[in-house]
Amino acid sequence: MSFETSGMLDMSTAAAKRESYALLKAQAQALFEGERDWLANLAQFSALVYTTVPDLNWAGFYIARGEQLVLGPFQGKVACVRIPFERGVCGACARSGEIQLVEDVHAFPGHIACDSASRSELVLPVQVTGQLRAVFDLDSPKLARFDADDARGFAQVLDVLVNATNWS
Ligand code: SME
Repeated sequence: MSFETSGMLDMSTAAAKRESYALLKAQAQALFEGERDWLANLAQFSALVYTTVPDLNWAGFYIARGEQLVLGPFQGKVACVRIPFERGVCGACARSGEIQLVEDVHAFPGHIACDSASRSELVLPVQVTGQLRAVFDLDSPKLARFDADDARGFAQVLDVLVNATNWS
């Protein structure tokens, strides 16, 4: 297989960001063509995001298992393996089913610091036919790295993943 990614995307302005998320979506669509295995696709998704989205120090999945999240495919430093739904930013996402956008992780009560370099975080639920399968967690060493456009952009790219994947 040969697949060339775009290289680092430009997210320096709102307009550039819109274009970059459209490109990321197109790349995800092309990447999953012909492959529906959930483990392979989550691994590829993490690598695609980590190598093309600027200012990240971690990108990956926690898989929902009962009332716990268990570490799944990711890129970045080693991380905590199990997160109960009642803990951390990831747990808040799993509990509520809502996107969590944290501009300053030090100001989030209960934030779990896997890497002391992380300053802001975005966590999105991965739901398949209404059921929570995983959360997708992004960490950045930059304060307030993520905004509503990033949340919308990643939600759309995750939709591509969900539709391109067999979950069992
Ligand atoms: N910060 C997360 C834990 C996961 S790591 O960032 C990879 C949290 O508070 O849930």
